[in-house]
Amino acid sequence: VLSSGDKANVKAVWTKVQGHLEDYGAETLDRMFTVFPQTKTYFSHFDIHHGSIQVRNHGKKVMLALGDAVSHIDDIATALSALSDKHAHTLRVDPVNFKLLSHCFLVVVAKHHPTLLTPDVHVSLDKFLGTVSTVLTSKYR
Ligand code: HEM
Repeated sequence: VLSSGDKANVKAVWTKVQGHLEDYGAETLDRMFTVFPQTKTYFSHFDIHHGSIQVRNHGKKVMLALGDAVSHIDDIATALSALSDKHAHTLRVDPVNFKLLSHCFLVVVAKHHPTLLTPDVHVSLDKFLGTVSTVLTSKYR
């Protein structure tokens, strides 16, 4: 459960991420495809070479959805309900992959904002991404 401190930490992180949604989203996906190549299987219909416009567009969509979750941090399940249906019923992404994407996003934030990600803020962001992942994988059965 996200404490009020976690929520404040996540909102603070988001003020730094907000202006770079496409860059950070694309970098997150790019890292995920390189470090965890099994994730590429879900994107066989994409051009996923480094710098691909499709990856940039998709990265931005993923970041906008995370931003939506930040804006509705007290009710993430409702905010991401349609996206949850889609990942469970249409895309059928194995839940393990959400940890991989979350990890890559944490690395991107840490790399671009080294002083922002204190251990405290790291915990809060990790908990937030865990909550989002739980919501997006909650409709599998
Ligand atoms: C589509 C967000 C995790 C695979 C999408 C879309 C969003 C999104 C916003 C577009 C939905 C639409 O067009 O209606 C997220 C978020 C995630 C997440 C916020 C976790 C924090 C993952 C993971 C995978 C994945 C871990 C697989 C490794 C896909 C695929 C599509 C998709 C294959 C469809 C792409 C297309 O054909 O356009 N996701 N996603 N997602 N997602 Fe996710």
